Formats: sequence, C-alpha cells, structure tokens
Amino acid sequence: MQIADFALERFFARWEFAARYLLCASDVEGFPMADLLALADGETRALWDGLRLGYTESTGHPLLRAGIAGLYEHAGPDDILVFAGAEEAIFCLLNVALGAGDHAVVTWPGYQSLYEVARAAGADVTLHELHEADGWFLDVERLIASLRPQTRLVVVNAPHNPTGMLPTHAEWARLTDELADRGIHLLSDEVYRFLELDEGDALLPGADAYPRGISLGVMSKSFAMAGLRIGWLATRDRDLLGRCAAFKDYTTICSSAPSEILALIGLRARDRVLARSRRIVAGNLELLDNFFRRRSAWFSWVRPRAGSIGFPRLLADMPIDEFAAGLVEAEGVLLLPGSQFGHPGNHFRIGIGRENLPDALARLEAYAERNLA
Ligand SMILES: Cc1ncc(COP(=O)(O)O)c(C=O)c1O
Repeated sequence: MQIADFALERFFARWEFAARYLLCASDVEGFPMADLLALADGETRALWDGLRLGYTESTGHPLLRAGIAGLYEHAGPDDILVFAGAEEAIFCLLNVALGAGDHAVVTWPGYQSLYEVARAAGADVTLHELHEADGWFLDVERLIASLRPQTRLVVVNAPHNPTGMLPTHAEWARLTDELADRGIHLLSDEVYRFLELDEGDALLPGADAYPRGISLGVMSKSFAMAGLRIGWLATRDRDLLGRCAAFKDYTTICSSAPSEILALIGLRARDRVLARSRRIVAGNLELLDNFFRRRSAWFSWVRPRAGSIGFPRLLADMPIDEFAAGLVEAEGVLLLPGSQFGHPGNHFRIGIGRENLPDALARLEAYAERNLA
C-alpha cells in the first residue's frame, strides 16, 4: 500500500512530548485513572479486579458494545464494532467500503486519514472545502451537487476538526435524506460529539439517521480518555460491519483488555465524565473569546459551534509557520499551523480542552506583543 505521510501526526511526533503547552491539542485533558476507577459500579469493579490479560472478543466486550449502543437510538450491541481508537476504525472502514473506480466526498480541511486512506484504497476523492468567509459552514447543496453515480461514500466530520463547524438540524436532515435516497453510505465522524456548546444543536448520529449511516465514535475526545485507544463504528449495515470485522483480523484482531473495562466504566458514568469535559471547554472558550476580541487586530476568530478546537487566522504580515516556530521556541507553546492540513490560509488550530490553556494563552499574548505590535 502506498500512502502519503500523515502530516499532522508527523508534526506531533516531533512536538507533542517536547512542547510544554499543547495549545493545539484536539482532546480534552486526560481523565485521571484513579478518578475513573472511583466511578466504577459493582459489576465493572468486579470485572476490573478479576481481569485476566488474555485475548479479548474481537468485536469488543459484549458489555462494552452494549454500553456504546446506549449512545444511539437505533443501534444494538450487534451493530457495534470496537477498534483501537477511531483511527483504526477509519482505516478498516475505508479499505472495506472503497476501491478502484469508486468515488468519495470528504470534508476539508480535515483529519487527513479520512481522505488519505480513501485515496490509498484506490478511490477518487472530492474534497468538500469549507471556507472561513462562510463561517466554515457545510454547504450541503454544493456537496450534493458533487455526488456522482460512482459515489459510494460521503465522509463528514461534525463537530469538525479543525473549525468547530456543526451543521444545523435542517442541513443535516437534507444531507442524510439525500444520501439515504441514493443508497450512499455516510461515514459520520462524531468523535467530538457531546461537546456541542448548545446541547440542543447535537445532531442525529449517522447510525440513527438511516440504515447506511455509520457513526464513528471514540473515548479520546469528549470522554477525555485518548490513552485507552478505544473507538468504534456503529451502523445497522451488518454486512459492512462484518467485512470491517474481517479486515480487523489483519490490524489488531482485538482490543486491549484493561482498556475495554475502563471504557465501559467511563461510558456508564458518562454524565459525570462529559460534564467535566464541557466545564473545561466552556471555561477555556470564554477566555479565548475575550482574547480574540482584545486582539482582533492580530487574529480573526470564528467561534466554534461545537468540539474542542477552533481554527483562527493570523492577520499579521507574517506566515503562521514562522510565528508558530518562534512561539514554541520562545515560550514552549505549540500551535498547529494550517499547513499541516495542507491549508494555504494563515490559519492555525487552537485546542480548547487543556487545563493549562490560561497560562499558554498568556504566553501567546506576551509573544505576540513582542513580535506583532
Ligand atoms: C476528526 C477526527 N477523527 C478521528 C480521530 C482519531 O481519533 P483517535 O486518535 O482517538 O483514534 C481524530 C483525532 O484527532 C479526529 O480529530
């Protein structure tokens, strides 16, 4: 298989554990293990205490699949397949769903594997570009106009990395109804689900929208447990899910036994886990709003509608790559330049989920004052 480097991951391989302040992280501050175990109920505590470190069920622990199914209206435990993070799920699904001669439409800028693996699987990929001038909104009519007779899959990531885009209910219904009518699969990357600023804006998950809708979920982002490496696909298309399961035999075969139980504990205690994440994001977003209001001469800011990320733009006459390189050097604060998404604007990704954001932001501001004023 020939596949281009995953630019963002190569960037993080260099910086993630070298920079002191990850002001561009996409996840919420990792949940403390001791706090998670304290949330276990009698059944999950017994599972944890009695755990044996053998292989696990390749589709996922039945209780974990039941816990995940609880996040959907129309998916039962047999409509769930567990993976090592969302990344493995993307890899398996795109390889199974797409091949030479197929066409796919994928939102862009975005998480590179969503279109890179599709290309590597042989598909012709149309990138559905979002624009800052439109508030990054998903142009559903333009997306529908780009569908072809050969289109097998549409991939939409919402809440969106890196812009925080979230379609309205009406836009989402228009898209999912059209795809259902045409028999086209939708991969709905919902890894930032549950971080809608207004909970009423939360979209119908892909798996609930129609039988060929596929939801991608993970413990990494809103659940703040990236270290578990537990993700999943949810869909009523059992044939497709079965083919993904067969493909997974060539990747990880089954998930980590401790991670499955910890994920189950987190899912059962999801109200408390998610309340913590929302609290962190809401507090940080307020600081960012004030910062960007104060510094509107230097940065443009489209406030995210959901998720733990935003995609502001450096307005100053300096390339963002140069600004970001100087910032991490001088202050240990890491931004993710838009170039890592292959995006030509002067944008950068800012992460809203880390507890040290106030400190990181103060350092960013001090650096900007020294270098932009
Ligand atoms: C939109 C999107 N999808 C999938 C993933 C993969 O999640 P994980 O790293 O937990 O596998 C990410 C991670 O950043 C993401 O932003």
